[in-house]
Formats: sequence, structure tokens, C-alpha cells
Amino acid sequence: MSESFSTEASPSVSHAIQTRRSVRAFLPDPVAESDVREILEIASRSASGGNLQPWKVSVLAGAARDALVGAVAERMLATPFGEGPEYDIYPHDLTEPYHGRRGQVAKDMYALVGIERDDAAGRVRQMGRNFSFFDAPVGMFISIDRNMGPPQFSDLGIFLQSIMLLARERGLHTCPQEAWSLWGKSIREFTDIPEDELIFCGVSLGYAVPDAAINDLYTGRAPVDEFATFKGF
Ligand SMILES: Cc1cc2nc3c(=O)[nH]c(=O)nc-3n(C[C@H](O)[C@H](O)[C@H](O)COP(=O)(O)O)c2cc1C
Repeated sequence: MSESFSTEASPSVSHAIQTRRSVRAFLPDPVAESDVREILEIASRSASGGNLQPWKVSVLAGAARDALVGAVAERMLATPFGEGPEYDIYPHDLTEPYHGRRGQVAKDMYALVGIERDDAAGRVRQMGRNFSFFDAPVGMFISIDRNMGPPQFSDLGIFLQSIMLLARERGLHTCPQEAWSLWGKSIREFTDIPEDELIFCGVSLGYAVPDAAINDLYTGRAPVDEFATFKGF
């Protein structure tokens, strides 16, 4: 298990950030509604431009979660790539270094679970695991009014990070999932998200399987001097 993976509750923000990772294998152990409510209440203290608080959240657990997961599993047989995206997940002309980074994370993830480069069916199957929330007992959707723009999407990101760190403080893990934006029609069927809201992402929430190979994925980061400049110190 790589060093930074921890299923313990995080005692500090630094620890929470350093032990947060996208977990893709969860235990079935339930998460109490009160814990999810508390996470969302504290996360709502996140900053947002003009204090717009543009985030909307739909939380599914138990039978409500299972009903959506079951329906999508069935529909995936006919349309494995979903119902049409809510938005363009990546720019069409993804340049370097972004293209390479995206490829690297996929390569490392598939290697961990023994899926070969040319195993297209295996890759589709692994991608499909998104739509069971990687077995997490709680699934959330973060949506936003369609008339909001890039600044409000950044507010969603801040809010999402708060959720992920608050989860770590409780010994929980998460996986943010843009992949769910491919299933907007089905999601709307099983939640109260209206057409005039765009579904930004799903979030799996639960307790990580500590020894699952896929949870060993420890993604790289560019060093500070590659993305920051300093003057005047
Ligand atoms: C907004 C957002 C959407 C993401 N969507 C997915 C997804 O659909 N499926 C998935 O397995 N991982 C998804 N990820 C996880 C990224 O692949 C992951 O954050 C990145 O590779 C860095 O790894 P780490 O989170 O383990 O540090 C998403 C992350 C973010 C922030």
C-alpha cells in the first residue's frame, strides 16, 4: 500500500489533503445520513464568488441508490457510453502536458487491476464501475443552474474539495466522478434534479477497501516550480 493511503481519520487539513485520493473500491459499510448532512453543512462554509453558493446536491443511499445503479447497469448493456454528455469533460484539443498526464493516470490505473492496453472490453468494464459508485453506499450528485459560468464552476470545485477533506476527517474516502455526467437522463429520473440544472459530477462516499489494488493508485504531481513562479522574496 503506498505511503499516503490511510483509512484513519485525518487529524489535520494537511493530513486530509495528503491522504485524500480517488478511491475506487469501497466497503459496503453504511454512512449515516447525519454524517453526510454534517459534511454538507460544514462544506457549505466554502467560499464562492459573491457568496452565490451555486452548488446543489442530491444524495442517494440504500434503495434510492440501488435503484439508479440497477437501472444504469441495465441501460449500459445497450449504450455503454451513456445518454449524451452534459458538457465537454475535456477540451477537444487536449495539449501537453495535460494529454500526457491524463494518459498516465489511465495507464497506471489499468496496470494496477491487470487490464492490458489493448483490452478494450476490460477498460469499458472498469469504466462501468463508476456507475455502481465503486460499491460505495452513498452517491451524491453536484449540479448547478445552467446559466452559471466558469467562476461558479470554480465555486463547485472548492465545495467539492471541502466535501472530500471533511470525509477524510471522518475516516471516509471519496471519488469525484465526471463520468456520471454521461447519464443525466437516468440520474434525473431517480433524483429531483431538473432539466435547467447541469449535472457536474457524481461523488462516491464511503469507507475504502484498505487492500484493494486499485486503491493503491498514487497519482503524480508536477513540482511547485513547474506551476508557480516566485518574485520578491
Ligand atoms: C471533477 C473531477 C471529476 C472526476 N471524475 C472521475 C471519474 O469520473 N471517474 C474516476 O474514476 N475518477 C474521476 N476523477 C478522479 C481523477 O482521475 C483524480 O482526481 C486524478 O487522477 C488525481 O488522482 P487522485 O484524486 O487520486 O489524487 C475526477 C476528479 C475530479 C476532480
